[in-house]
Amino acid sequence: TGIFTYDPGFATTASCKSAITFIDGDEGILLYRGYPIEQLAEHSTYLEVCYLLMYGELPNKEQGESFNHIISQHTMVHENIRDFIDGFRYDAHPMAMLVGTVGAMSSFYHDSLDINNPEHREISAQRLIAKMPTIASYCYKHHRGMPFMYPDNNLGYVENFTRMMFAVPAEDFTLNPVAVKAIELIMILHADHEQNASTSTVRLSGSSGANPFASIASGVACLWGPAHGGANEAVINMLDRILYSGETIEQVIARAKDKNDPFRLMGFGHRVYKNFDPRARLIQKMCYDLLKELGGDQPLFELAMELERATLEDEYFIERKLYPNVDFYSGIILRALDIPMNMFTVMFAMSRTVGWISHWMEMHEDPEFRIGRPRQVYTGAAQRDYPSGR
Ligand code: CMC
Repeated sequence: TGIFTYDPGFATTASCKSAITFIDGDEGILLYRGYPIEQLAEHSTYLEVCYLLMYGELPNKEQGESFNHIISQHTMVHENIRDFIDGFRYDAHPMAMLVGTVGAMSSFYHDSLDINNPEHREISAQRLIAKMPTIASYCYKHHRGMPFMYPDNNLGYVENFTRMMFAVPAEDFTLNPVAVKAIELIMILHADHEQNASTSTVRLSGSSGANPFASIASGVACLWGPAHGGANEAVINMLDRILYSGETIEQVIARAKDKNDPFRLMGFGHRVYKNFDPRARLIQKMCYDLLKELGGDQPLFELAMELERATLEDEYFIERKLYPNVDFYSGIILRALDIPMNMFTVMFAMSRTVGWISHWMEMHEDPEFRIGRPRQVYTGAAQRDYPSGR
C-alpha cells in the first residue's frame, strides 16, 4: 500500500545527513570537512586527509604523528590472509580478490568487535586504512605470481604501498619520487565523494549492524563497476581498443552519440558535476606534466588528448555537460607509471576506504540512524489465485 516517491538512481533523494564532504556540482566545488580539495591537494598528505575525514579537523603535530604511528602499527595482516589470497586462481582479477579478501577480514575481527563501542569502531577504521595497501599489493603479487612483500613501517604510507607493489626480495629497490607524488595526489582526490554509489552501499550494508570489514567489502564490490570506480580501467581498455582497431576520433565520437549503440566514452560525464570536475582539473595538470617527464605510451596519450579536445568542441558533449572526469586522467597517469590496468580500481578502493569508513562511523554516531530500507513502485501482476488442478 502507499505511493512512494519514485526516484530512479536516487538522483534527488538525500539518504542521510553528513558533515564530511560538500559538493556543488554546478560550481565545481569539492570540500572535505570544509577545506577545498585544491588546497588539500597542494598542502596536505594522504594520511593527514584520512585524519581530517575521520575526525573532522586537521591534526596538530602531535595528533598527526600519533595517527601516523598507529596506522603504521597495523599494516601487517594475519598470515592466513596470505594463504587465503593464494587460494585464488592465478588469473583472478585483483578487484575480485580484493572483494573477497576484505570480506574475509571480518572473520579475524568479529567476535571481539562491538560496533556499538566507539573505540572498537575507531580501531576498525584504523585497521582498514592500514591494511588496505598490504592487501591490495598482495592481490597484485598473487596475480603476477610474484613473492609477497611485507610492509616496511619505516616508510610513509604511499611509499610503503609503492614498495610492496614494485619491490622484489631479490633486488634492492629505489622509490621513484615522481610515482609517489602522483599516487599521493590520486589518493587525496579519491579519498571521499559524499554519497556516491559505493559509499551509499557501505552505509546501507552497515545500517543493518553488519561487520565493518564485510560492509567495506560491499563498497569494493560496488566500486568495481565501469560506471563507477571501474571507469579508470575502462578508459585505458577503450583507448587500447581504439588504437588497435584503427578507428578515427570522428568514428569513436559518432558511436558515443549513437543511441542505438551502448558504447559510452569512458571517463566522461558525471552525475553531480555538470560544469567541471574540480578533481579532474587538478589531476589534468599532473597528467600533462607527467607525460612530458616520463614519455611512456605516446600513441595512447596522444589519442586521449585528441579525444579530450574533440569532445570539448562537440555539441552533443557541450549540451549534456559531459567533460572528462577524474578517472579519465587517473587512468592515464597510472598507465604512465607502468601500473597494470587491473590494479587501477584496486588503488581507487584503497584511497576510498577512508571515505567509506568515515561515513560508516558517522552513521553509527547519528541519533537518527535507522536501517536503510527503500520502497518501490510495484509494477507486477495484481493479486491472483493459484490455478486449481496444478
Ligand atoms: N558518453 C556518451 N554519452 C554519455 C556519456 C558518455 N560517457 N555519459 C552520459 N552520456 C549521455 C547519456 O547518453 C544521456 O544522453 P541523453 O540525455 O541523450 O539520453 C546524457 O548524457 C545523460 O546521461 P545519464 O546516463 O543520464 O547520466 P548519469 O548521471 O546517470 O550518469 C555517468 C553519469 C558517470 C554514469 C555517465 O556519464 C557515464 O556512464 N560515464 C562513463 C563512465 C565513467 O566515466 N564513470 C566514472 C564517473 S566519475 C568517478 C566515479 O564516480 O567513480
